[in-house]
Amino acid sequence: MLESLEKLAADPILGLTAAYNQDNNPNKVDLGAGVYKDADGNTPVFAAVKKAETIWHAQETTKAYIAQPGFEDFNSHLVPHLFGQNHPALKDNRLTSIMAPGGSGALRIGAEMLNRAQPNATLWVSSPSWGNHTPLLGSAGLNIQEYAYYDKESHGLRFDDMLSDLKQATKDDVVLLHGCCHNPTGVDLSKDQWDVIAQLAQQQGFLPFVDTAYHGLGEGLVEDAYGICKLAESVDEMLVSYSCSKNFGLYRERTGAIIVLGKNQEAAEASSSHITNIARQIYSLPPAYGGAIVKIILQDQELYENWKQELDEMRERINGLRVLFADTLADKGSSTDFSFIKDQYGMFSFLGISKEQIQRLRDEYSIYMVGSSRANVAGISPKNIDYLTDAIISVL
Ligand code: LMR
Repeated sequence: MLESLEKLAADPILGLTAAYNQDNNPNKVDLGAGVYKDADGNTPVFAAVKKAETIWHAQETTKAYIAQPGFEDFNSHLVPHLFGQNHPALKDNRLTSIMAPGGSGALRIGAEMLNRAQPNATLWVSSPSWGNHTPLLGSAGLNIQEYAYYDKESHGLRFDDMLSDLKQATKDDVVLLHGCCHNPTGVDLSKDQWDVIAQLAQQQGFLPFVDTAYHGLGEGLVEDAYGICKLAESVDEMLVSYSCSKNFGLYRERTGAIIVLGKNQEAAEASSSHITNIARQIYSLPPAYGGAIVKIILQDQELYENWKQELDEMRERINGLRVLFADTLADKGSSTDFSFIKDQYGMFSFLGISKEQIQRLRDEYSIYMVGSSRANVAGISPKNIDYLTDAIISVL
């Protein structure tokens, strides 16, 4: 039976990591998958995570299954961490959270629940969006349609076109938005633009589904949650997928949550019951370890402050790398203006170079980035900046 299956090509993002790891060039540069790297090219474990692990190892008395929604105190602390203690939806008990295997697991079980509620609903995704959004969400049964987002000429947002596309979305549709640090472009909505989107969601009645994989890595924890909070004040129903991969550095622990905003408490709990039922059908129960670490950090004031400081340093370092990258290219006389990179947020920017140039960077210099020209800025360092910028200039 299995002979009918042909071998597939490697994943466009994860395949880059595999190829990079096999490359023997000592000067190789990894600007591929969205993984933070320090100046030595390592992805460190947060000190706050190390401490929480010690606490957890002392506390843990069993490896028995955890409850279907995950740890109660993970869920009850994650929601105010994202929405703030005083959000009206929290006070009205309209928000529920369920632990999921990473942000991707959260996206998938959210999409499955939507498909149950509204079979074959249309899900609007930004053009472009994370390369795995369409495979991950479309294979849950949703019909994918794109809305205008990135302007290749200005390297900014096509906001008017985005609005006119989303005016076609109705109460039977779902609109996927990036909470912050848009993947792959780094182009985020301003507060005013979020206000307009929230108003439009209310007017059109579409359901926002906000993918939040970089909370705290854009402008700050509170700033990055502005759009989510605004939407939750404006609409009856919403989903949020939350990832702890990047902001807690828990990538391999597959830690995340799917948060449901319902019209009222009863409706939120009904949707959540479907989500746990769907999870049971797919993978049964969530992994515990990463959730245990996060819940310890969220509940311990001192540890939380330590974690926040590490996250702030990480964000500031990435923003500094954006400046270093754009300014070094300019100083070296680049014929292309890359100053837009300084205005964007999170790990990614589109360099706007051609597929041939990307291939040459890989073949001739062992510099790896996604075929769309998405570069992970966090892969740049003072050690590789000259090599990297010289190589880019040489292929321009
Ligand atoms: C990315 O976009 O590079 C990350 O989210 C990793 C992944 O799974 O694609």
